[in-house]
Amino acid sequence: MHLILVFFFHGIIHCSGGNSVYESVPRLLLVSFDGFRADYLKKYEFPNLQDFIKDGVLVEHVTNVFITKTFPNHYSIVTGLYEESHGIVANEMFDAATKKTFSPFSDRDPFWWNEAVPIWVTNQWQENKTSASAMWPGTDIKIHNTTPHFYMNYSSAVHFNKRVENIIAWLNHSNPPVTFATLYWEEPDASGHKYGPEDTKNMTKVLKEVDKLIGFLIEKLKTSKLWEKINIIITSDHGMAQCSTDRLIKLDECIDRDKYKLIDKSPVAAILPNNETYVYNLLKNCSPHMKVYLKEEIPDQYHYHHNKRIQPIILVADEGWTIVHNESLPK
Ligand SMILES: *[C@@H]1O[C@H](CO)[C@@H](O)[C@H](O)[C@H]1NC(C)=O
Ligand SMILES: *[C@@H]1O[C@H](CO)[C@@H](O)[C@H](O)[C@H]1NC(C)=O
Ligand SMILES: *[C@@H]1O[C@H](CO)[C@@H](O)[C@H](O)[C@H]1NC(C)=O
Ligand SMILES: *[C@@H]1O[C@H](CO)[C@@H](O)[C@H](O)[C@H]1NC(C)=O
Ligand SMILES: *[C@@H]1O[C@H](CO)[C@@H](O)[C@H](O)[C@H]1NC(C)=O
Ligand SMILES: *[C@@H]1O[C@H](CO)[C@@H](O)[C@H](O)[C@H]1NC(C)=O
Ligand SMILES: [Zn+2]
Repeated sequence: MHLILVFFFHGIIHCSGGNSVYESVPRLLLVSFDGFRADYLKKYEFPNLQDFIKDGVLVEHVTNVFITKTFPNHYSIVTGLYEESHGIVANEMFDAATKKTFSPFSDRDPFWWNEAVPIWVTNQWQENKTSASAMWPGTDIKIHNTTPHFYMNYSSAVHFNKRVENIIAWLNHSNPPVTFATLYWEEPDASGHKYGPEDTKNMTKVLKEVDKLIGFLIEKLKTSKLWEKINIIITSDHGMAQCSTDRLIKLDECIDRDKYKLIDKSPVAAILPNNETYVYNLLKNCSPHMKVYLKEEIPDQYHYHHNKRIQPIILVADEGWTIVHNESLPK
């Protein structure tokens, strides 16, 4: 699946009379709008985002790492690593050795994150540089005993504008300066899931709102005079496919639920079987719209093998199909 990556570069302006540390150090603000499908940019109007692009560089799309989910993909962006190497291999995880389970946004155990070092930690470790985060998966966790100097605990209840105001204040004030910052917003992913990305009427409204937020961010950066002093990347973690209740893969029709644990859900589901051979054989022929891999069979090009958190059986639904227990989606 593809995503949009808009890269905006503004030369660093040296202002006379300014604080020399602030003016001479390159600074980057990394922004993610969750689930911003690449073709939204062509199908909908984004006056503010288009202004932003005109001033910078647009990358038409990038190729996701496997699997395409919020937590793994966001951690790949900030570590440069495949999921098998950075350790956040799914949105929901189980570690057999420690019996620990991971749920996104609620789990605070650094154990899950410490297999890699994200860029905000590396930056924070440099002399005279600090990091700031108005959310991004992992930024409120003490990864290698380090959080960004300024950060917010994750809460979906905090509005985008409040996140922007915090980021602006942190970028503006602070010595040593904030040289790397992240900003995260749950849309258009949340509405894409709710309505389906091809519900044009609802998505028009949602994407108009996203564009307004981008306008707010740009305006705040300009009025605080940060606009000329920082580089900004606006990107996303993954795209989204239209699903349908007519395209369900019902596991209950193939195997009893008590024969396995569903660790991570559709469209790439992670299965912990009681008996690997038994479960694999039953799932293998469950649906022509689902591929079933033993861990060791996962194609090399997915780079999704070398991690003990990858479960013994992985199910991959065809695009547009959903893996469920029965017609009710798994909770
Ligand atoms: C860090 O800042 C201090 C004080 O401004 C300065 O003396 C020192 O050279 C800086 N170190 C680096 C690596 O820039
Ligand atoms: C985040 O939450 C933890 C645990 O509740 C708390 O110790 C910490 O101070 C909070 N951090 C911020 C920046 O609010
Ligand atoms: C958005 O979706 C909801 C639920 O599917 C529907 O009731 C509503 O009419 C839609 N709104 C628009 C503007 O299409
Ligand atoms: C930036 O900081 C200066 C003082 O260092 C302050 O006067 C100004 O109001 C701040 N601007 C914003 C947008 O926070
Ligand atoms: C696992 O399932 C296979 C195939 O159904 C069966 O032959 C084998 O005895 C089972 N192993 C255990 C430990 O139950
Ligand atoms: C689907 O599963 C739920 C429990 O998750 C159960 O209550 C319901 O009866 C099942 N429906 C069918 C048709 O089997
Ligand atoms: Zn996402």
